[in-house]
Amino acid sequence: ATQYLADWQAYPFQIDQTRLTFHLDPRATRVLSQIEFRRIAPGDLVLDGVGLTTLHLAIDGKPVTATPEGERLVIRDLPDAFTFQAEVQIDPQANTALEGLYLSGGMFCTQCEAQGFRHITWYPDRPDVMAPFHVTIHSDMPVLLSNGNPVSQSAGMAEWHDPWPKPAYLFALVAGDLRAVSDSFTTMSGADVALNVWVRPGDEPRAGYALESLIRSMQWDERAYGREYDLSVFNIVAVDDFNMGAMENKGLNIFNSKLVLATAETATDGDYERIEGVIGHEYFHNWTGNRITCRDWFQLCLKEGLTVFRDQQFTSDMRSAAVKRIADVQTLRARQFREDAGPLAHPPRPDHYQEINNFYTATVYEKGAEVIGMLKRLVGDDAYRAALDLYFSRHDGQACTIEDWIAVFQDATGRDLTQFKLWYTDAGTPRLTMTETFTDGTLVLDFAQTTAPTPGQPEKPARVIPIALGLIGPNGDQVLDTTVLEMTDATQSFRFDGLGARPVVSLLRGFSAPVTVTRQMSPADQALLLAHDTDPFARWQAGHDLALDGLIARATGATGGAEFIRALAGVLDDAPADPAFAALCLALPGDEEIATTIATRGAVPDPDAIHAARRAMMTEIATAYEAQFAGLYDAMATETYHPDAKGAGRRSLRLACLAYLSRLDGGDRAQHLFASADNMTERQGALEQLIATGRAAQPLAEFEAQFRDNRLVMDKWFMVQPLRAAPGDAVARARELAARPDFDWKNPNRFRALIAGLTANHAAFHAADGSGYDFVAEWLMKLDPVNAQTTARMSSAFETFARYDTARQAKARAALQRIADLPGLSRNTAEMVTRILAGP
Ligand code: ARG
Ligand code: ZN
Repeated sequence: ATQYLADWQAYPFQIDQTRLTFHLDPRATRVLSQIEFRRIAPGDLVLDGVGLTTLHLAIDGKPVTATPEGERLVIRDLPDAFTFQAEVQIDPQANTALEGLYLSGGMFCTQCEAQGFRHITWYPDRPDVMAPFHVTIHSDMPVLLSNGNPVSQSAGMAEWHDPWPKPAYLFALVAGDLRAVSDSFTTMSGADVALNVWVRPGDEPRAGYALESLIRSMQWDERAYGREYDLSVFNIVAVDDFNMGAMENKGLNIFNSKLVLATAETATDGDYERIEGVIGHEYFHNWTGNRITCRDWFQLCLKEGLTVFRDQQFTSDMRSAAVKRIADVQTLRARQFREDAGPLAHPPRPDHYQEINNFYTATVYEKGAEVIGMLKRLVGDDAYRAALDLYFSRHDGQACTIEDWIAVFQDATGRDLTQFKLWYTDAGTPRLTMTETFTDGTLVLDFAQTTAPTPGQPEKPARVIPIALGLIGPNGDQVLDTTVLEMTDATQSFRFDGLGARPVVSLLRGFSAPVTVTRQMSPADQALLLAHDTDPFARWQAGHDLALDGLIARATGATGGAEFIRALAGVLDDAPADPAFAALCLALPGDEEIATTIATRGAVPDPDAIHAARRAMMTEIATAYEAQFAGLYDAMATETYHPDAKGAGRRSLRLACLAYLSRLDGGDRAQHLFASADNMTERQGALEQLIATGRAAQPLAEFEAQFRDNRLVMDKWFMVQPLRAAPGDAVARARELAARPDFDWKNPNRFRALIAGLTANHAAFHAADGSGYDFVAEWLMKLDPVNAQTTARMSSAFETFARYDTARQAKARAALQRIADLPGLSRNTAEMVTRILAGP
């Protein structure tokens, strides 16, 4: 059944205290609950429960006989205050969906967001019902954890108390044979906090970076937002089986182990950066998510958009702000623009859904963060900080809405944000078109904005678009520093007087709004910006557009790319000064982005032609600059490995050079690097080149022999093969890998490694014979009964199918239809496949 935002009604009871007692057992865990309800409005007691064996129910000690109505229990005729008691039995070992209480590698753990708590016991499983929790755990596991502060611990038992009222989705419990890597933190008001990262015995040496990242996160949130931690202990637990990245349970964050465990030999620079970013993200949720939570799940972006924005700021401060911004925009375009342009388009705040787990999307997270970035740019840094202070003081302890958030900004700044709110309620990526005229020292910029219809939203009123721009003179000097234009109408003009000569507009600096840009620009002007723009984002964008135009020309039967290749001379000259930035400028747009852009321009992308064009252009670039690449490749070798931004930047440039050089040396350098590197960044980078050059059999065998017992590293091994194989071989290789006994497909990381590795190989997934679609559909159908959440999420690989030729479309449609027809298909996957098949 579809849930609607408009149907939200306040819960008629408040909870003064929730007491839970767990008797843990893999097959028969008993959960006793004692919940003190107090009436605040007329209405029945409605509780949620799924898959529970109910042993006993009582009100104020008197047994009640209430029959569950589907997944709800309704109890009528209740007094104004009462204690509800229940005893239920659940089977954690049978829980392959990894939602509620489950077992991972012999350890008990939980995942309750969004609606997992109802798999544990009867409860008002909605985020606006908040309560202090008191939890008692009985188990023979050595380490027993829950939210809040420890009350008592003895053999076979532990008691925890969380004084901060929270919704059930923030509940967590962990029980296992775990070891802590520990430190402590003194908060800005002098309180001591014990910090623990809990891992399996033997993994302690791999947990240090996560712990250091936690300390940096705590310091940063105090400094940047004045936010202090509020319990005596902060626990993080790493688990191998987890549907998403991590979870911000109050005082007890649970993480996918790939976002905790790292050593130079087993983790890449990218892994380290993600660990730091996600540790920050979950920690920052303590204020933006936990102390202030969401009234209902339609408001998910209230906590996620803001917390992503905060973790992006954190990473920018810890590393390079320019590099972080470019990387974030690339992710946004690859995932969110793609979503916005297809059948799954929805606003950051949707107003209906069937399965909320299908809305943990790039739109809610990444676009949710972009919207906050725009707000900050419009009101300014000081007003932003004042608004956040007001948000924290006004709404602490509450479950809020986007309306509350907007009201805070209106009250703090005096601005009317009615039109701005459209960013939250309207789906689709606006297209911003700019035309320019220059006469007698006056530049006139005419802007027009349009947004194509999205499912359920045919009309798209104009939005507020902050357009940050600068002007670069013909000699490359900046004649106008960054200025923010506020566009509010469908069409609008801005003029700049007193200019000597026609300048080049450096448009959408810092990517000031999540829009696509259409403008006529000569390759010479693009090259000028690439060489001289003072805004690093706009500078990178100019080069990227130049490359993209060249690649599209080539992929559609024309010639192009010469200007980009020429302009790279300057990039290579400047490269040693900022290696990470140079690596971004050297990386050609990927096949998927080329296909998207071709489709956006109204043509049908040909995956094989795109792939061939990209490879040919790489070879040409490699040939043109072989000596420079070879010189940089040697110069960017790092001495001892440090996962900091500086070392990571050098390695990223080194690997960018290797990708070009491997087009010419047949993989010789990659072979040498694979054999000699002391870190996973370079080893994996080398291995990927060897796979692409068809020389990977021996290195893959060595890699496997070395890391066979390390699940996280073997996930990389499963991922890079379908990803980097020649498109014609990738599906066959993926099939071989899927047949291996160590393709432990019930583990989400392993499943994703192989299947998403293939779907990220654009020309392989979209193979003309439909073999990519068939393979992926087959595995989605196999996973659905086991883990619907991960199946549904991965079905979005098909969301772009309608942009390809009719033969491919028919094959993709047939694969989707087979999934749709699967008997007993989950609500999660059914919703996704139906939406994808319905089209935009
Ligand atoms: N709140 C978590 C985070 O963003 C995501 C957990 C969502 N899990 C889920 N099964 N939907 O950090
Ligand atoms: Zn989050």
